[in-house]
Amino acid sequence: MRNSLALSAATHRNNDVHWHDSALNKRDRAATKGQQPCVLWFTGLSGAGKSTIANVVEHKLHQMGFHTYLLDGDNVRHGLNNDLRFSDKDRIENIRRVAEVAKLMTDAGLIVIVSLISPFRSSRKMARDLFGPQEFMEIFVDTPLEVAQQRDPKGLYKKAAEKKLNHFTGIDSSYEAPVNPEVHLDTLAFMPDEAADCVIDALFHRPRLKCVGAA
Ligand SMILES: Nc1ncnc2c1ncn2[C@@H]1O[C@H](COP(=O)(O)OP(=O)(O)OP(=O)(O)O)[C@@H](O)[C@H]1O
Ligand SMILES: [Mg+2]
Repeated sequence: MRNSLALSAATHRNNDVHWHDSALNKRDRAATKGQQPCVLWFTGLSGAGKSTIANVVEHKLHQMGFHTYLLDGDNVRHGLNNDLRFSDKDRIENIRRVAEVAKLMTDAGLIVIVSLISPFRSSRKMARDLFGPQEFMEIFVDTPLEVAQQRDPKGLYKKAAEKKLNHFTGIDSSYEAPVNPEVHLDTLAFMPDEAADCVIDALFHRPRLKCVGAA
């Protein structure tokens, strides 16, 4: 009975919920901020340096007068996504929600910085597909697993090794590296500040950029 009610509610929702146009659109909201909204989507292993670099990027953009918001995976899991765990299904839902929030924030005219392991290519594509071609930049924070394990800033690799943590990316849950990201950062070659400059350079010039240091 409960299931059939839930099903009927879902059907009603699909048929009866209509889009309500706003008086203002994204361009209007962005114009008052004097910027082009976009998403800078950081992906990489835990401990790769996503949050570290993303924070520097946001700080630099803020100092230049841009309007930004940083959606950090860890922080979002304290609130909006605190019902989700780390199964593949929950990770996919985690990314879907963050992508939808990022979309609302770009609609508000913001430059949105997302820092999320986002291990699956298909989920990152799902996120990308919510945005226009110039609106979404995938930034691969490329750090070898062994280095991330040594950094272990939150002690999570240690916990995973002790089997106190399951479904940990790189250990017993997969990470699918981006094939053709807009920015590819080698964190062995660049300090966070330099990596952040690479990202900002790519944001303003929009080529595909590989910051991998001198060979
Ligand atoms: N070149 C570098 N770029 C970024 N971080 C670096 C670099 N070299 C060392 N680090 C260190 O690596 C650690 C990266 O931790 P950080 O929390 O940013 O990772 P993360 O990718 O956000 O991980 P998680 O997915 O668990 O949130 C920090 O302690 C940082 O100081
Ligand atoms: Mg982080």
